[in-house]
Amino acid sequence: MVARTDFSRRYQGSSGIQELMVDLDLALSGPKKMLMLGGGNPGRIPEMEEFFRKEMEDLMQDADRFERALGIYDHPGGNVPFRRAIADLLRQDCGWDVAPENIALTQGSQNAFFLLMNLLGGKREDGSMASIVFPMSPEYIGYEDVGIQSGTLKSFLPKVRLLEDNSFRYEIDFDGLQIDDSTGAVCLSRPCNPTGNNVSDEELERLYNVCSERQVPLLIDAAYGLPFPGIVFDDSTPFYREGCIVILSLSKLGLPGLRTGIVVAPPDMVAQIEKLNSIFNLSCGGMGPALVRKSIETGTLLKQCRNILQPHYRKARDLAVRKLKLGLGNCGLRVHESGGAFFLWLWFDASISTTVLYQKLKEAGVIVVPGKYYFPGLEDEFDHRDRCIRLSFSQDLQTIEEGIDTLIRVTKRELEGIS
Ligand SMILES: Cc1ncc(COP(=O)(O)O)c(C=O)c1O
Repeated sequence: MVARTDFSRRYQGSSGIQELMVDLDLALSGPKKMLMLGGGNPGRIPEMEEFFRKEMEDLMQDADRFERALGIYDHPGGNVPFRRAIADLLRQDCGWDVAPENIALTQGSQNAFFLLMNLLGGKREDGSMASIVFPMSPEYIGYEDVGIQSGTLKSFLPKVRLLEDNSFRYEIDFDGLQIDDSTGAVCLSRPCNPTGNNVSDEELERLYNVCSERQVPLLIDAAYGLPFPGIVFDDSTPFYREGCIVILSLSKLGLPGLRTGIVVAPPDMVAQIEKLNSIFNLSCGGMGPALVRKSIETGTLLKQCRNILQPHYRKARDLAVRKLKLGLGNCGLRVHESGGAFFLWLWFDASISTTVLYQKLKEAGVIVVPGKYYFPGLEDEFDHRDRCIRLSFSQDLQTIEEGIDTLIRVTKRELEGIS
């Protein structure tokens, strides 16, 4: 008799993101029409789709560029002309002191986080553990479980600042934050998924100073940030200094299918990513660089971001915030200040479980994401875990309006049932 292999023993991590994706998929694949205010997908913006369609047509007409994008394994650090174009843009538009040697591509930025967090976190050669520190919970669900060694991630509680008009903001609690010899890297998303928090230039500068005093790299996840896609609603500026690693992505431009992440880092880190890329992928996919390079070189991509993408999301954000505050402002709802990205983080400063609310909303045809998934590496008690939900405003305005109307109705019913 042939012995059966027990594959369940190969990977024993419990991935919150996988549990959530399966749940969302089941909800959406049923017969009922659901209003999707849950996922991380960018919106379908006709002007952006038209723009990329035209870029694709130009690519297909331009000598053998299309054939080369499909038919050639690129350099393991990513397509070289594209890396040059990115470095030029970052130098000219953001004033960063970078060259192509500072740029590595990855298969989506999620892939970059896996590589970076395991290069900088986990067991060191002397046997000690290096942790990846998130200075302020909540944070991006995709960081959960990226550490190959358990216990790699460590998160800190934020300060909660109440603001006028039913708003609030999380701030880094510098008194509670511990960055020391055991810290392999510090990481934050800016703007933040899930909260929309866009840590100010001053707060980031202060965090950077703490990191550089201790010689700890600072990872800035700019998947939604500047210079592209530039889904930023305040006057913050792009940030890159010695000792920083900035991670960009083409996904939130509307191109998640192209799986193109961009790491901006010191050349020795870029060289390590190149090595790992060649093991994991040989090289990265060529379509993202091929489709986007020309518009990066001519500056038209940034124009599209400023003139189309950002105003599109700002309009949707304004609508959602206005409706929510009007409908639930006197029921204990507080909305996190929205500095960027396409999410709102709703905190019910009231006796309500958002895990239960998520189920009730699903039954009523609206998908949001319960807050509990957004605390990777946080061991402390924090009642925001089950008092918050993340709502995406990337869908069309009608879906947002209908979804929020239902959210208001269901939440009021729940609160009345509780009181
Ligand atoms: C904050 C943040 N970082 C990184 C990613 C990964 O994006 P991608 O792998 O598509 O570049 C996402 C995706 O939703 C995100 O929200």
